[in-house]
Formats: sequence, structure tokens, C-alpha cells
Amino acid sequence: MTSPGEISRQHDPASGRSRAIWGAVAPGWYAQREELWETTRPVSEWMIRKLDPQLGDTVLELAAGLGDTGFMAARLVGERGRVIITDFAPEMVAAARQRAEEIGVENAEFRVLDAERMDLGTGSVDGVLCRLGYMLMIDPARACAETRRVLRPVRRPASGAMPCRPCAGPSGAGSTPRPSRSRAASSPPASPCRSGRPS
Ligand SMILES: C[S@@+](CC[C@H](N)C(=O)[O-])C[C@H]1O[C@@H](n2cnc3c(N)ncnc32)[C@H](O)[C@@H]1O
Repeated sequence: MTSPGEISRQHDPASGRSRAIWGAVAPGWYAQREELWETTRPVSEWMIRKLDPQLGDTVLELAAGLGDTGFMAARLVGERGRVIITDFAPEMVAAARQRAEEIGVENAEFRVLDAERMDLGTGSVDGVLCRLGYMLMIDPARACAETRRVLRPVRRPASGAMPCRPCAGPSGAGSTPRPSRSRAASSPPASPCRSGRPS
């Protein structure tokens, strides 16, 4: 796992500023967690339907904030599965951990992780969630490429969408099933990848 200190050293100033801002936002988000969840829940439900997590899966949530979308997946992957809740702001990761304790999620692990430089093995997860995240990253295309790298290819038709040209190859995957079980779900209004260009 990359420590927050290592992340600071590796990153450009813009990334450091963004991380500091999100870190400062975290306590307020935690204070308003119930209202935030009620407002945004339909997007998470859509994403979870697209991702279709299976028992035993490992699901990664990027730029997770309080982690509520990942916690929905946690219920579906069961005790043999797990979710990895990540954000590059340590304060957000701490808030997500608190939230998990509060709602009784036990199969989640928490990491400070920069989605643009993931300290995760190639082909190490079955699905990726990223709600309202890619669009706010300094280099979303790089984050999409990293997303593709960490997804595990398995011989089974896709049951979700990867509406991301850098991730999905020259034609993009969109709603077309691909010969892979790798799944990534990003929220419909938020993906920077729909056009293939960072927005
Ligand atoms: C709008 S919030 C979304 C949080 C959560 N996904 C949700 O939908 O409530 C954006 C999140 O992206 C995180 N973030 C921004 N750039 C990131 C990066 N390069 N790697 C990881 N997290 C990042 C921020 O810390 C913040 O928690």
C-alpha cells in the first residue's frame, strides 16, 4: 500500500492541492452522510446493477468518499468476497471506515490509493466502482488505464458496462458485451470517459 507520505512525494502540486481540499471536505460529508446517501442512492443502485457483483468477488471502489456504493457491493459478494474502499484523501478513507463500522460492514478493507497510480496488482480485482470520481481526477485517462490494468480477465461475457474509451479499447465497450468478466461501473452522469476525452 502506498502511504500518504509517498503519495505526496510522487504527485504534482495540482494533485496535492486537490487531495488537501477533499481531505478538508471529509468531516462535513461525514456529518451529512445520511442526506448525501439518500440523494445519491439511485446512482449507486444503477451502478451496482451494471456491475452485478457475484459471491466471492473482489470489488474495488475508487475515489470512494464515504464508500456507500462499495458497501452495497459488500453485501452482494458475501463473506468470501471483499470490497476494497479507496480514496486518495486519507480523511475520506477514515470517514469511510467509520461509516462501515456504523452500518456493520465487515468484509471491507480500506486503503489510501491514488486512482491514477494504483498500488495494486495487474488483474487483481473482479470489478471496479467509481462514482463521481474520474471526472475530478487530474488525469482521468490514466485512471481509466489503471482501472483496466487491475481488472481480472475471466472467460465469461461481461454483465456490466465500461463506458470508457481508454479502458475499453479503440471502439469502447458501451453496452456491447465483451468476452471478459472484467467489470467497471462508473455513474452515468459522471463518467469522463463516455466521450473518450477527459472533461
Ligand atoms: C465528488 S467525490 C465522490 C465520492 C464518492 N465516490 C461519492 O460518490 O460520494 C470525489 C472523490 O474523489 C476523490 N479523488 C479525487 N481524485 C482522486 C484520485 N486521483 N485518486 C483517488 N481519489 C481521488 C476525492 O478525494 C473525493 O473523495
